[in-house]
Amino acid sequence: MVVDVRNYTKKLKGRNVLDGVSYKFEGGNIYGLYGRNGSGKTMLMRAIAGLIFPTDGRVLIDGRILHKEISFPNDMGVIIENMELMPQYDAFDNLKILSKVRKTATDEDINEALEKVGLHDVRKKKVKTYSLGMKQKLAIAQAIFEHPKLLLLDEPTNALDE
Ligand SMILES: Nc1ncnc2c1ncn2[C@@H]1O[C@H](COP(=O)(O)OP(=O)(O)OP(=O)(O)O)[C@@H](O)[C@H]1O
Ligand SMILES: [Mg+2]
Repeated sequence: MVVDVRNYTKKLKGRNVLDGVSYKFEGGNIYGLYGRNGSGKTMLMRAIAGLIFPTDGRVLIDGRILHKEISFPNDMGVIIENMELMPQYDAFDNLKILSKVRKTATDEDINEALEKVGLHDVRKKKVKTYSLGMKQKLAIAQAIFEHPKLLLLDEPTNALDE
């Protein structure tokens, strides 16, 4: 998989929050974005996820133009800042409901992801009773349970224990 960001500019309220960003992310690698608060890391991830439209430039996912040829990267897991989970459901059901969209993940995939993040023992507890870190773990499970090729993780370690 290749994520090719080409000359991407996003203007908000008269200011360029992304200003001609170009970078090619190649499959099989882990990339980290670092920079000052407000420098545009989250915005760049939103751009790659197809959640914002460019003012100029484009994102290509495996050569296909986002918002033109495809609406979203079709094999993506994502955590973007303060994700809302469904608080009235338990952890298992949160993932079960999400799995109805793509219809690729089995109950085993869900349990495996919950096990991986350390929530398996509390999977039947309503998410509204979870601590901040437990919710973050569920957000991570949500991103990985369908084994996507592209994982976009914005501040994934927020509130996590060791
Ligand atoms: N809805 C909005 N309207 C106008 N400007 C915005 C909006 N959302 C974000 N910005 C601006 O876009 C810039 C980039 O924000 P972004 O959230 O991408 O920063 P960041 O690098 O992720 O910061 P942090 O390290 O704090 O997470 C910031 O200067 C911010 O003020
Ligand atoms: Mg950010």
